This record gives sequence, C-alpha cells and structure tokens, in this order.
Amino acid sequence: MALRKILIYPDSFLRKKCEPVEEIDGDLLELLDDMADTMYAAPGVGLAAPQVGVDKRIIVVDVLPRGEKDGELDSEEDDEVEEEYDRRGLIELINPEIVFSEGEIIGEEGCLSIPGFLSDVKRKGVITVEGYNREGEPVGYEAEELFSRVFQHEIDHLDGVLFIDRLGRLKRELLLRKIEKALGKEQKKYAVL
Ligand code: CO
Repeated sequence: MALRKILIYPDSFLRKKCEPVEEIDGDLLELLDDMADTMYAAPGVGLAAPQVGVDKRIIVVDVLPRGEKDGELDSEEDDEVEEEYDRRGLIELINPEIVFSEGEIIGEEGCLSIPGFLSDVKRKGVITVEGYNREGEPVGYEAEELFSRVFQHEIDHLDGVLFIDRLGRLKRELLLRKIEKALGKEQKKYAVL
C-alpha cells in the first residue's frame, strides 16, 4: 500500500489539462494501485491523477457504501474479507470520456483537493462513460445519481476544472471568499512558526 500526497487548492497543477495515456506499463499500474489506496485512505469516492501530481487522464471511483465493514471483523481472516469488501466497487478508468448524457441533477459535492468545503452543484443526470481498464480493454458504464456525479467530477479534474467552477457566480464568490479566509489562516499559522 502506497499513499500519494493529494494536492490542495490553489495548487496550479490542479489546473492542468492532462494528457491521454498512450501505453499501459508498470509505472502506470503502480499509479493505479496508489491512486486507489490514496482514495480509500482519504477517504473519498473518487480521485483523479492530477490530484496526486500526475498529468495523465486516469481516474479511480468507488461509490459503494463502506459502512458495513465496521462490524465485528477482528481476526486475520476477516481482515482479508474487509480488504476485498473495500475494493468491491473499485473502477479504474484510463482516458475516460462522456459519450452520452441526459437530464440534470443537483446535489452536494466536495473535493479531496478542497477539503472542508461543500456546495450544491448542477450536473448531467444520466451519462455513459467510456474508457479503458488496466488490461487496455475498452469498458463502458452507464451512471446516474452519485455514480454519475462522481464520474463527471473526476473527469473535470482531467481538464483542470474544479467543482467550484461549476457554481453560479454569486455562490462561487461566496465559497471562494470562505476558502481564501481558511487559507489565509493557514498561512498566518505558518508565518508565526
Ligand atoms: Co475532486
């Protein structure tokens, strides 16, 4: 298990337009493993490569609820079950593209790169996403609700787009002010040290 550092807004790397993956090699498979580990550890329901400082078009997603694993699992055998359960809903997608969309949904959204801030975001309703798995085989998903929202959020990251960019002007300005205030406090804290 290897965790990578999640870049935090306003890191300029988060604004990069990522390059399509041309070849699946050992480094790329390691990146996929690390991205899943990092997402689960955060914990989050999705992560895009630029969030860990890699400008490649790769996302990982897992929207399955994880509450059940907190039961009475304590023997070594059960730990394995827990590990398996954790990755049950894992989707790794290389060069993902939204090829169809219909309708609209509005729901609360946050981002591991903008920790502590949530806002209602308007997204496409039902979507079809296509891409490649780690074997290089073409795969596709039809998604709605949270699943659809997470795909759109993560694919936005590959184009340097953050959920705050999807807000109306007033909402965005209010949220940005709050974020900057929080960042200012952080900077002050460091300045004292
Ligand atoms: Co995000």
